[in-house]
Amino acid sequence: MNSTPQRRDRYAVIGHPVTHSRSPQIHDQFATALAQSMHYGRIDAPPGSFAGLVREFFANGGLGLNVTLPHKEAAAELVDELSDRARLAQAVNVLVKRQDGSLLGDNTDGAGLVADLARLKVQLAGHRVLIVGAGGAARGIIGPLLDLRPTLVMVVNRTPARAEALVTEFKSVLPVELGRRLIAGSGDGEFDLVINATSSGHAQTAAQWPSGVIGTGTFAYDLSYGAAAAPFLELARRQGAAGVADGLGMLIEQAAESFFLWRGLRPVTTALHETLQRSSSDPDVLNKP
Ligand code: ATR
Repeated sequence: MNSTPQRRDRYAVIGHPVTHSRSPQIHDQFATALAQSMHYGRIDAPPGSFAGLVREFFANGGLGLNVTLPHKEAAAELVDELSDRARLAQAVNVLVKRQDGSLLGDNTDGAGLVADLARLKVQLAGHRVLIVGAGGAARGIIGPLLDLRPTLVMVVNRTPARAEALVTEFKSVLPVELGRRLIAGSGDGEFDLVINATSSGHAQTAAQWPSGVIGTGTFAYDLSYGAAAAPFLELARRQGAAGVADGLGMLIEQAAESFFLWRGLRPVTTALHETLQRSSSDPDVLNKP
């Protein structure tokens, strides 16, 4: 006999490692709140196994996947169609099996960040934003941040050439009006919002930050959460930041966006933010979906 989860609509998060992912907990709560009959699991996909496991999941009736490290770029390669925002990010964090059997790749990370900043009442329109880091995490958020019409988005990176290359590439595909507000630099006085998009919280090497960019008017946001976000948020506090937040809220909001893509229903996230923030003291928690 089939177990109960087999009969429910199936979703999962796929990544490596994936054991500590909070996505199953988040989606279970959404499903319960919205009375959706679905099961959300975890799929560990060591290097080399990703494409095969994705095909197997969908061939066996799965309806949607969240994709996390280190497979977001690989996921963008294997879909039938990319959303505009996923194409811009060149990374996919959600796969949707459509009625005709084709696979859509989307990226809800940037939308998740924007929704969390709105929840935190962090203004972007007319403000100056600094993104530290020029890797995959930065790629996913630049477009959605520019949509909110900040005065400026500056990208700084430990390896400056990588920030230059990222900005040049984005400007070549963004509408001119948006592209103008995006520059690479090395920091330029204090910013209204400083976002840590580096993986330095996971790295063994000491983080290298630009100096003089955080002041008493700055909100500091780390795309990681838990222990990995602590060094940057501690630095920001020491420098007198007006507010700080880790990326747990972004994780919840990108999950809500994924859920909407799959089920056409938008979960209310307010209570979940409170529940997860309260239980987020676990130092083993990984910082990705
Ligand atoms: P992700 O997908 O998490 O963004 P990535 O593409 O490997 O991962 O990018 C990691 C980012 O973190 C890069 O911007 C990297 O800087 P470099 O381009 O100079 O490598 C940045 N980073 C990693 N460790 C860092 C550290 N200790 N200090 C500052 N930046 C760091």
